[in-house]
Amino acid sequence: MALKIITDCSGIDWQTIADSLKKVGMAYHEPEVHKRAFEASHTAVFVYEESQLIGFGRAISDGEYQGAIYDVAVLPEAQGKGIGKLIIQTILGQLPSCNIILYATPGMEGFYKKLGFGAMKTGMALFTTSQAMGKFTE
Ligand SMILES: CC(C)(COP(=O)(O)OP(=O)(O)OC[C@H]1O[C@@H](n2cnc3c(N)ncnc32)[C@H](O)[C@@H]1OP(=O)(O)O)[C@@H](O)C(=O)NCCC(=O)NCCS
Repeated sequence: MALKIITDCSGIDWQTIADSLKKVGMAYHEPEVHKRAFEASHTAVFVYEESQLIGFGRAISDGEYQGAIYDVAVLPEAQGKGIGKLIIQTILGQLPSCNIILYATPGMEGFYKKLGFGAMKTGMALFTTSQAMGKFTE
């Protein structure tokens, strides 16, 4: 599998980002919204196999000591081949001095545990109303 890793946002088809997020059951927005979000991020990673975008992820960060990972997705047909791990490791490589937090989709905790992440005891969040459903412990 000949993979290409891209870390800049020029030339990205944002409709494909929205479609891919929808396909894997994650929150998605209008293409322009994803464009602004990825471009405003500290780190963006896109993985291509030939000319097809098969996975991506991004992190917001101060670049010094705190960061947060979002929108990690690998197309179903490309899952289970180490692409997700490659995306996370590439992001972490861009933020070597940072603590990293993220919200794991239910069922994906094991993926992050294998990469060294642990569940936080006192994680707190404030979600927009539409995204809060089912995410709080009480
Ligand atoms: C989660 C996701 C990004 C993982 O990507 P992937 O390319 O399939 O994962 P990888 O092949 O890189 O897996 C790396 C390791 O994690 C393990 N793993 C992958 N998914 C797992 C899961 N749900 N639970 C436990 N372990 C998992 C793999 O077995 C592999 O283990 P190994 O290193 O011992 O072989 C992908 O399944 C996906 O896009 N899912 C839908 C969207 C989603 O939920 N994204 C996460 C948002 S928080």
